[in-house]
This record gives sequence, structure tokens and C-alpha cells, in this order.
Amino acid sequence: MWVPSLQVHRSCQSWCHPWMRRIQQVSPSATGMQQPFLPALRCYTQSTEDEGLKKLRRYKRMFAISLFSGTLVFAWFLKRQKGLRLKALLEDFTRLPIDESLFGADVSVYKYKGYIFPGQLVMSGVFEELPHFQFREEDVVVASYPKAGTTWIQEIVYMLTHSFKRTDASSEVLETRFPYLEYPYPGIKSLAAKQGPRYIKTHLPLSLLPPSFTSSNAKLIYICRNPRDVAVSYYYFMRLLTQCSYQGSFSSFINMFLADMVMYSPFFEHVLGYWRARHNPNILFLSYEQLHQDPVKVVKEIAEFLNVDANSDEVNYVTACTSFGSMSANPSVNYEHWKDLGFAHKDQGKFLRKGEVGNWKHHLSDDEVVAFEKWERKNLLNTGLDFMYEKSSV
Ligand code: PPS
Repeated sequence: MWVPSLQVHRSCQSWCHPWMRRIQQVSPSATGMQQPFLPALRCYTQSTEDEGLKKLRRYKRMFAISLFSGTLVFAWFLKRQKGLRLKALLEDFTRLPIDESLFGADVSVYKYKGYIFPGQLVMSGVFEELPHFQFREEDVVVASYPKAGTTWIQEIVYMLTHSFKRTDASSEVLETRFPYLEYPYPGIKSLAAKQGPRYIKTHLPLSLLPPSFTSSNAKLIYICRNPRDVAVSYYYFMRLLTQCSYQGSFSSFINMFLADMVMYSPFFEHVLGYWRARHNPNILFLSYEQLHQDPVKVVKEIAEFLNVDANSDEVNYVTACTSFGSMSANPSVNYEHWKDLGFAHKDQGKFLRKGEVGNWKHHLSDDEVVAFEKWERKNLLNTGLDFMYEKSSV
């Protein structure tokens, strides 16, 4: 008689072992018993086999139940861990109330270590990773409060450090060439894994930069811009971005801006943090207005800061290729592709909007100008910093 249980896979032997032993005990071939005993034995074998099968079924059921409940417990455990991680992550964050009617999208706002951040960044978990990010000596960082001219400086830096080659439609887009440190795309992990010199954009205030910046000897260029033009540019940007879809009035936005309730505010703490560090040899503090007024001079200054040997033809070329007109026509830097990707509305203007100093004059009411003046005076007192609000006539 063939004893099937003897063929059972080794992995099953531990739990079907008793049943196997019983069958083996009563199996003629296994025991070597003689013919006359077989009918009586068959009956006995039958009932023992039934019992064995029942037992096997019971084991199988128990196994299935344990597998099912084990999976449930594991899923519950993972969910709990995720909840605890999120709770720990959010412990340092305060969700701020916002007027949701101002936005056409689902917007949430958090305060973290004194600064305002969008929920999108907070939920991405990047703030857990930032303290561990390692800057390297060959990195070049462009930092700013939003809408201060970051893109302009990025492209100047990129050309200066890439043999003065102009970028065009065939080049990678700026956000890939010069990734945004704290933004989920392409993400801090991919930036950390990138080999060679890295070109990094950030809107983080100095106090929240990864601590490795100080010891790394990496170079950082900070660009500031007068808050009135920043506010106007920011207003249009919030309308342009689909993830904000700002639909409130201009004056409501200005109130939010002056109340330091927009992303990366407070404005003055942001600017003054870097301003106070401007004597650090690895930090170059620039202004949009300076760059606007004398781009050749500032491009040269940036080249020197980055230890790039650039003759006057090369400086002039970089200046020309990064003018507002050139950059507006360059698909690699004008962010027009965001419209096809669904990141920007098609009917809300352009990322490279006006590129002017003093555009606020066409937007701010007299009362708003007074409110700005008061705010600026209070915050700039005894700081040694001042802004240019109009195009210089020189
Ligand atoms: S962002 O989203 O924070 O990175 O934006 P950012 O690049 O800092 O700021 C966008 C504003 O900078 C203007 N810009 C320029 N002005 C003059 N010349 C050049 N080449 C240039 N490149 C960008 C851009 O037009 C935005 O300002 P506004 O006032 O909205 O036009």
C-alpha cells in the first residue's frame, strides 16, 4: 500500500508528523504484516485514516486562521506605527487656521520652528530627513524667500559652472538640473544620492538649513528682494499654481503677507537670518534690485564667489542669456511646462511675469503702501539692511 503521507514535503512534516507516524504504523508495507490480517486491518486503517484526515483538516484550518489573524495583526501594527510616526512628526508643527474660501484647492498651513510651511511639505516627511542631509564642499546652494529672483540666480550659477553653455528646449528643465531641497519632487533622497557637484535651490531660512551646511564649506548665494515686489509676485504665483489656486482678493493676500501668514514667512526673519550671516565667506548675499540695476557686475561677482574664471565676453554672454527676455523664451527655465503637467493654470499668466523693480506701484493702494512702510521701518530698524523699492535713475 502506498503511503501518501510519506511523500509529504519536509516543510509540512512537523505539523503532520503524528498522523504520518500512525499511518506508517498500520501500513502493511510499512509494518511488514501478512495477508490474513489485512481485512480487519483495513477497517482499522480506514478509521485511523479518517481520524488522521480530520486532524489534518483541523491543522489546516488552524493554520489558515493563524495566517489570517497574523496578517490582520501585522496590518494593524503597520498602521499604528505609521500613525505614531505621523504624530511624532506633527508634534513640532502647529496647524494654523486659514480662510479656506481664499483657495480653490485643498490648502493646509503649518507653523514649524517659527516659520510657515505648506501641508504638502510637512506630510512628505522631509523635515525628519533635513537634519541628516549632508552638504558637500562642491555643492552650490541658492537660497531665498520665495519670489525674490531665485530662478534668475540659479540659471546664472548653472551657466557659470557649466562652461557658459546656454540652456534651451533640449536641456533638462531647471528643477531637475537644480533641484529644490525640501520639495517632494525630485526629493531630498535623490538629491542626497546625486554624485558630483550639486546645485541646490532652497527657500529654507538659515536656521532650518541642515546643520551640515556649516561644516561642509558648501557655497550659498542668498537673494533678497524688496517685500512689496515680492508680495505682488507671490500673489500672482499663488493664483498660477493649481495646488493653491488662490481666488481671494489682492487686498486679502496683502493682509496675509503683512501678517506673515504666507509660506516661508516671517519675511524679515528669513531675510535677516541670512543678512546677519553675510560675512561668512561661504555666503554671498545679493539683492534682486542690484542684479537688475547692474547684471554684468553681479554676474562677475557671482563668478568670483564660485571661483569661476570668466572673461568679460563670457560674463556678458551669461548676462545676455539670463536676461528676462531670454529666460522667458527658454522652455528649460520658464516653467511653462508646468501648465501641461497640471501644476499651473493655463489662464493665470506666466511664472516669468514682469521681472521689474517697482511693479508694486501698479498694485498697492495708498493705505497698503503706508502699511508696508510701517512694517518695513519696524523690522529694518538697526539692522543695517535696506531695500531698493524703485528702479534707480542712475
Ligand atoms: S520662486 O518660485 O520662489 O522660485 O520664484 P523666483 O524665481 O524666486 O521669483 C520669480 C520672480 O523673479 C522674476 N525673474 C526675473 N526677473 C528679471 N530677470 C530675470 N531673468 C528673471 N527671472 C525670474 C520673475 O519674473 C518673478 O517676478 P515677477 O515680479 O513675478 O515677474
